[in-house]
Amino acid sequence: MKKRILVLGANGFIGNALVNKLTEKTQNEIFGLDLYSNKLDESLQKRNFMFVKGDINIKSKWIENHIKKCDVIIPLVAIATPNMYVKDPLKIFQLNFESNLKIIKLIVKYKKRLIFPSTSEVYGMSSDKTFKEYSTNLVVGPVTKPRWIYSISKQLLDRIIIAFGEQKKLEYTIFRPFNWIGPKIDSLKQAKLKNGRVLTIFIYNILNNKDIVLVGNGNQKRSFTYIDDGINALIKIIENKKNNLNKKIFNIGNPNNNISVKKLAKILIARYQILYPNKYKGKLVYKSEKEFYGKGFEDISLRVPDISEAKKYLNWTPKNNVDSSISKTLKSFIDANKLF
Ligand code: NAD
Ligand code: UGA
Repeated sequence: MKKRILVLGANGFIGNALVNKLTEKTQNEIFGLDLYSNKLDESLQKRNFMFVKGDINIKSKWIENHIKKCDVIIPLVAIATPNMYVKDPLKIFQLNFESNLKIIKLIVKYKKRLIFPSTSEVYGMSSDKTFKEYSTNLVVGPVTKPRWIYSISKQLLDRIIIAFGEQKKLEYTIFRPFNWIGPKIDSLKQAKLKNGRVLTIFIYNILNNKDIVLVGNGNQKRSFTYIDDGINALIKIIENKKNNLNKKIFNIGNPNNNISVKKLAKILIARYQILYPNKYKGKLVYKSEKEFYGKGFEDISLRVPDISEAKKYLNWTPKNNVDSSISKTLKSFIDANKLF
């Protein structure tokens, strides 16, 4: 069946990969908006992808018209790099919360289906061994630690979406990515400024023969999830025919890929050494959270998804192990050999 899908933030890490997959089905009509288009090269050639370059806060008319026109809306615009949570918490509130709330209200107004990106960060510092969508308590630090503004902005949007579902019949599915990694995750230019996620920063360090900084003791763990696995889950949510995903929340992560950032660095260096023996001269060094991010930071030591909901309702399990996910991401940066 023909679907009209609106992707806001279409040039982002998740956006570009999603658009690429969605446009494979020629009966789909995909509409996209982003400030940039550099990651969309192949998709821009496709006849069923209509893209407009612009700011979510300025293109209000275009956005309202397209929400009216589409069946499903996937608002992916946000700042998702931790150093910015500490540096510019107001920007996180304005873009991630306020701008997205306006979009959600329009989706309610026009009675369309919302697929919303929450985050594994909402669980915060919960001490649960695995995080469950409907029972894990969400644990964050004091209000004087701005790192939590990202987590809390998403948490409040999740709560508002749920309330709109109950009180205004909004049809929604929430997904929570757990550290998705893969090609085009962040640009090396961003990584140079520490304005990227850990894997891109480490790749930047290796390609530029710089030391890798482990924050704290480097033993904090993340469940790294390959982008193709994440996109497969999203496609299943979008294409759901049973109509049984309304009001559902899904952790989309790979519990088998739960490794420390120190291990991540070691795997990455080993892979690079195989490709370019003796080229990397850097070493692992340690910095405190305060030195690396500033005083408003607080880290999360363990974050493992329980994915039984996704298994049950989406018939989804992640396929890519951590070694191949890291290798493929590294190779994509080497092959691109250019700044995005
Ligand atoms: P991203 O930073 O790669 O993509 C965000 C996109 O939004 C970028 O292309 C950017 O240009 C665009 N954008 C920023 N400001 C804009 C504006 N004013 N107007 C229009 N476009 C603007 O992030 P991502 O990794 O693709 O994440 C997408 C969503 O998923 C975000 O909501 C993020 O919080 C959430 N998420 C991602 C992950 C992950 O592992 N990647 C994990 C948890 C949650
Ligand atoms: C991230 C971001 O908040 C969001 O992109 C996303 O919503 C979220 O993950 C998620 O997947 O849900 P985080 O995992 O803390 O949060 O961010 P990363 O930049 O990927 O850092 C991972 C770990 O590596 C942190 O403990 C950080 O301190 C550490 N790190 C980072 C280093 O040791 N060295 C570096 O150079 C950079």
